[in-house]
Amino acid sequence: MAKMWAGRTSGETDQLADELNSSIGVDCRMYRQDIRGSQAHAAMLGKQGIIPKKDADQLIEGLEKILEDLESGALSFDMSCEDIHMFVEQVLTERLGDVGKRLHTARSRNDQVALDLRMYLRDEAKELHALIRELIEVLVRVAEQNMKAVMPGYTHLQRAQPILFPQHILAYAMMLLRDDGRLSDCVKRMNVSPIGCCALAGTTYETDRVYEAGLLEFDDIAMNSIDGVSDRDFCLEMMSALSILMMHLSRFSEEIVLWSSWEFKFIELSDNYTTGSSIMPQKKNPDMAELIRGKTGRVYGDLMGLLTAFKGLPLAYNKDMQEDKQAVFDAVDTAKLCLQVMAPMADTMRVLPDNMLKAAQGGFINATDLADYLVKKGMPFRTAYKISGEIVADCIREGLVLESYPIEKYRGYSELFEEDVYEDINIENCVEKRISRGGTSTASVKEQIAWVRAQLENM
Ligand code: ARG
Repeated sequence: MAKMWAGRTSGETDQLADELNSSIGVDCRMYRQDIRGSQAHAAMLGKQGIIPKKDADQLIEGLEKILEDLESGALSFDMSCEDIHMFVEQVLTERLGDVGKRLHTARSRNDQVALDLRMYLRDEAKELHALIRELIEVLVRVAEQNMKAVMPGYTHLQRAQPILFPQHILAYAMMLLRDDGRLSDCVKRMNVSPIGCCALAGTTYETDRVYEAGLLEFDDIAMNSIDGVSDRDFCLEMMSALSILMMHLSRFSEEIVLWSSWEFKFIELSDNYTTGSSIMPQKKNPDMAELIRGKTGRVYGDLMGLLTAFKGLPLAYNKDMQEDKQAVFDAVDTAKLCLQVMAPMADTMRVLPDNMLKAAQGGFINATDLADYLVKKGMPFRTAYKISGEIVADCIREGLVLESYPIEKYRGYSELFEEDVYEDINIENCVEKRISRGGTSTASVKEQIAWVRAQLENM
């Protein structure tokens, strides 16, 4: 069939060339935005007298019917159309005849696609926002429900200092709050209307871009027509924000994988979020966490792919840009799915505080507190640090822990040691003494929970 753009050429292209050129399989999901955008365009054309008012009304009505028919299933996408824009215009023209052919006045597919994509992504950003919010709520709940759980905190994956499990979980809540902030920042720049930039240079018709942008709930219009049709930094920004979000989900996933191993056994995942092995009957595998970790690579790849596709493009529109949608849709879909699984997986995991405490009691995790004890009694920190190290070494030789190391032996290292040392190196006390703001004491964790809740209120 001859193309809608047949004219200068016959509109006949090679079949594989058509396949390469076609984007309807990917962009058909923007049908709603495309139709709403076209309705606003028709309204603007009518208001400005660029087309007769009654034609504008007919276009708006005809577009509404197409939307209804697509949603009811009465109409399905014609995959032989090049893209969603061509499809909608083709159906409209089939249905309305010459009136349908008036719609594409004073616009181009270049500004149309940029418009649709901005509208589509701002809607997706809303859904992402709700999902991030939901995950933060789950994390706060997990924190609140485990206020007594003490675990080893790690650096270099070596036991470092005892912490409350909620302190660890809340760290992720903080990251997710920033992820949400990054997304809403990028929506601010995204919500600028390119429609009316036309092919690249603007148009000779007396359009009202501000009116059209207002109908579509944009905050502003792109002030340079070339910029409006040729940049996709809003996609890249969103994918950057999603890459960082995925990096956070991936780190959390890695910890879930570790914590649910027999080596740690800090948590047990619900059966709903694990799989078995086809050969090893004892297995309960954390596949969902592994997949979230794995899919993070995909989202980075989407970002890298689009950055690379754009780096050499001369202004303004080039067909390379059609690749934007596959990348950004994949990043959005992946992040949404991962958030949707992460929230209930975290919500339903069983926390095993006894195992956490046992792990915290090994590994001389209170050695810093031992040094701090001597400092409180007047010893310079470096000296106290050295003595504590020597005591740890002696414990290892003797098969003892600091809690059971006899007082006479302590006093052999320093006269400053007294019976109250045991109080100071008790694991729970070590946690509770970390009263600095943002630290791991119960009081500080409660303050953090209240703070996160306040953020959620304003989100
Ligand atoms: N399907 C195209 C895309 O996604 C729409 C814009 C086409 N513009 C053009 N001049 N061929 O980029």
